[in-house]
Amino acid sequence: MASSELIDKLNDILRWEWTGVAQYSQYSFVLTGIWREVYSGRFGESASESFGHAKQIGQKITALGGVPVVERDPVKQTGSLHEMLMNSLCFEETAVQLYQEALALADGVDRPLVVMLEEILLEEQEGVDEFTLILRDYDSGEMADAVSNAG
Ligand SMILES: [Fe+2]
Repeated sequence: MASSELIDKLNDILRWEWTGVAQYSQYSFVLTGIWREVYSGRFGESASESFGHAKQIGQKITALGGVPVVERDPVKQTGSLHEMLMNSLCFEETAVQLYQEALALADGVDRPLVVMLEEILLEEQEGVDEFTLILRDYDSGEMADAVSNAG
């Protein structure tokens, strides 16, 4: 029987993944303008990834004797692509943190769970890295615009 602390942490993760499903879906719905062609699909993929993680974690919580949460945290709504990207980076960073916390609890207790959490953790870190790179280009692009406007 898994500890209640571990199951609670997995439910914190599940709540966060449900938040990702809603937030990324919302971004894919409301994004308009020239970048919709690129980022609407990208946010849709992130929503699907969150749903995939939610399914894995939810099933594991039940297997461990817990009850998976159905609630989620509030969605950060915006119509600005830049804010969507910053919120996405923030979302992925929090996910990395939550999975690391769950790993600390599972380590030495449940090896298969550690393996599962590590695989998902890698995907979360890929999300952090990707949004970091996108925002780096975004910021330098803004800087280039500012320079040309000043000239
Ligand atoms: Fe996830």
